[in-house]
Amino acid sequence: MGGNYQEIYDGWKVAPDAFWAAQAESIHWFKPPHTVFDASEGAYGRWFVGGETNTCYNCVDRHVLAGRGSDTAVIYDSPMTGAKRSFSFDDVLAEVTAIAAVLRNHGVAKGDRVIIYMPMIPEAVFSMLACARLGAVHSVVFGGFAAHELATRIDDSGAKVVITASCGLEPGRIVPYKPLLDHAVDMAKVKPNYCLVFQRDELHAPLRYEHGDVDLAKAVEVEKMNGTGVPCEPVLATDPLYILYTSGTTGQPKGVVRDNGGHMVALHWSMSNIYGVKPGEVFWAASDIGWVVGHSYIVYGPLLAGNATVIFEGKPVGTPDAGTFWRVIAEHDVKVLFTAPTAFRAIRRDDSDGEFVRKYDLSGLRALFLAGERADPETIKWAERMLGVPVIDHWWQTETGWSIAANPTGIELLPVKHGSPAKAMPGYDLDVVDDAGHPVPRGTLGNIVAKLPLPPGCLVTFWNADARFHSACLEEFPGYYKTADAGIIDEDGYVFVMARTDDIINCAGHRLSTGAMEEVCAMHPDVAECAVIGIADELKGQIPCGFLVLKKNVVREQKAIEREIVQLVRDEIGPVAAFKTVMIVERLPKTRSGKILRGTMQKIADGLPWKMPATIDDPAILDEITDVLRAHGHASPDTQKAAAG
Ligand code: COA
Ligand code: AMP
Repeated sequence: MGGNYQEIYDGWKVAPDAFWAAQAESIHWFKPPHTVFDASEGAYGRWFVGGETNTCYNCVDRHVLAGRGSDTAVIYDSPMTGAKRSFSFDDVLAEVTAIAAVLRNHGVAKGDRVIIYMPMIPEAVFSMLACARLGAVHSVVFGGFAAHELATRIDDSGAKVVITASCGLEPGRIVPYKPLLDHAVDMAKVKPNYCLVFQRDELHAPLRYEHGDVDLAKAVEVEKMNGTGVPCEPVLATDPLYILYTSGTTGQPKGVVRDNGGHMVALHWSMSNIYGVKPGEVFWAASDIGWVVGHSYIVYGPLLAGNATVIFEGKPVGTPDAGTFWRVIAEHDVKVLFTAPTAFRAIRRDDSDGEFVRKYDLSGLRALFLAGERADPETIKWAERMLGVPVIDHWWQTETGWSIAANPTGIELLPVKHGSPAKAMPGYDLDVVDDAGHPVPRGTLGNIVAKLPLPPGCLVTFWNADARFHSACLEEFPGYYKTADAGIIDEDGYVFVMARTDDIINCAGHRLSTGAMEEVCAMHPDVAECAVIGIADELKGQIPCGFLVLKKNVVREQKAIEREIVQLVRDEIGPVAAFKTVMIVERLPKTRSGKILRGTMQKIADGLPWKMPATIDDPAILDEITDVLRAHGHASPDTQKAAAG
C-alpha cells in the first residue's frame, strides 16, 4: 500500500496486461492462466484464460491453510433479533462445507444454477460460498422482491435448487419468505428440484416435503456429524461464479454474469488499494447480499483479502435508533464502513446534532465510503463533521462489480471534491461523448463511456443474452462500454456523475426500473396508458411517481383505483419498489410522434428549469400535469418562473 495514484494509473495504461498479471499473483491458482487477456474470446475479450481456480478456496480454505483458521472471518449482528455471533475462518469452512455437501446430495454440480432468496443471516453468505465451492452458479435475489420477480429469475437462470429462509425481518413485521417462494415456483416454467429452507425461530415455514422441500439446518447437522468433506471444485477463471439480476430498460431484468478469476483479482486489488484495509481488520459494507455491494464487499472482497466482514441485519435508523451504526463500529472495531448516502440522510434526519455519534468510541474508524447513488455534498459534509474521517464517494454499477471511479485511500488520499467520486481507477479509461459518440471537451456534460476492454471483475455478458448485452452496453458507442450514466470529467480528471441516461432510478440506494413499473401499471384493467418517472425525494434521493390515464368508460372511485395500482406494483415487483405516489391525469404530454415527455415531467415535478420541447404535440397538457403535481405537493410554484427564465 502507499504510492502515487497517477503513477499507478499511468503504469496500468502503458502495460495493462503486466499490471493485472502482477495482481493475479495474490490469488491462488490450481493452474495459472496461460494468457492474461485474450481479445479473441467473449464479447470484448476474457481475462486470465486457461487459469483454474476456486473462489471459495481463496476466500476460506487458503486462510485456514495459512494458519489463520482461528481469526475472525464473519461477524453477524442483528438488531432485529438481538443476535450477535462471530465465526472464525475454521467455523466458516465447516459451515460452508456442510452446505456444499447438502447441495451435492441434492444433485447440484459444477455449472448448475442455485437461487438464494435469503435475509441478512450468516447462512446466506455460507450458501453463496458453498455454491462457489462446488463450481455452481448462484443467483441471489433481494428479499424485498415479490414472487413474480423471483419467478422471472428462476426461469431465466434455469435454477435447479433454491435456498431460502422461513422469513425475513423488517421493522414491525415478519416477511414470510416461503409462501412467496411457493407462489414463485408455481408461476415459474422451470421447476427447481429442491427448496432448502433455513427455519428461523421468529417464524417456522410449513415444509412441503413431497414437493422437494428440505430443512436446511437439519441436513447441515447430518453432514457435520458425518464429517463429510467437499473439496473445492477447480473451475476455469472464465467460468461463471454468479448471476446477479439487475433492472434494465424493460421489465425483464438483466442477468449480469461475473466470472471467477477476474472477479477475484479485481476485488483483491480494491481491498488494499481503494479501501486501504489490511488482512485481519474488520470491514463493514452496510448493504444487503441481494445487491452487488453485498456480493463484492460483504462477501467476496473482504474474505478474499482475509478481512473480517460484518453481516448486519437492521436499518440505519429505527433498529433501535440512529446510533446503531456507531454501536456496530465501536463494538466490532470496524475500520472502514461502506454504505449508501441514503442511510446517512436517514441518520442525519434523526440525529442532526450527532448526539448518538458522541455516545460511542469511533476512534478506530478510518474512512467512510459511499456509493449506489449520487452523494449530495451536504450529506458528505455532515458525515465528515460528525466522524472526522475521510468520506469517500465512489461510483460503480452492478455491471462493473467494483468502482469505476474512486479516491484510492490505500494508495493515497486525493484531494476531495464534493460531488465527485474522484478519478478513474486502473482498468477504466473513461471518456465523455456526445450522443453521436464524439468526445466532448473537459467539463462538458455527456455520456460517460469506458474504453474496451473492461477490466477484470466486470460483467462478461448477460446470462443467456449475449445479443442483449451487446445492444445494451456495446453497440451505441463502438469500442466503448456505455455506462448509461451522464456526467462530466473536469480539467483535473475528476468525474462527476449526474444522472442516468435510461429509465433507471435510484431509490434509497436501490436500483429500480420505471419501465418495469409502467408495465405493471398497464396491467390494471382501468388503465389506458401510464408513465412512471423518478422524482426527487429528500430521504431516498428519488422515488417513483406514476401518472395514469384511465380508460374512457371508467366510473369507479379514483382513490380505489390508485390503491389497487399501488398494491399491484407491490405484489408484482415488491415493497422495495417504494411505489406509493400515483396521480390520475386526463392526458400525458407527448411529442408529435407519440413519445411521452418523461424528462420534462420530471423537471416540472422537481421544480427545475425546463424548456418547452419543440416537438410537443399539445403544450396545454404540461399545465395540466403541473396542476396535478402541485395538488399533490410537488412542482414548486417557482417552476413556471424557471420555465420563463
Ligand atoms: N425484505 C422485505 N422487504 C424489504 C426489504 C427486504 N430485504 N428491504 C426493504 N423492504 C421493504 C421495506 O420494509 C419497505 O416496506 P414498506 O413499504 O412496507 O415500508 C419497502 O421495502 C421500501 O424499503 P426502503 O426503500 O429501503 O425504505 P425503508 O423506509 O424501509 O428504509 C432506509 C429507508 C433509508 C433506512 C433504507 O432504505 C436503507 O437503509 N437504505 C440503505 C440502502 C442500501 O443499503 N443500499 C444498498 C446499496 S449500497
Ligand atoms: P447499481 O447497479 O444498483 O449499483 O446502480 C448503479 C447506478 O447507481 C449507477 O449507474 C449510477 O447511476 C448510480 N451510482 C452509483 N454510485 C454512484 C455515485 N457514487 N455517484 C452517482 N451515482 C452513482
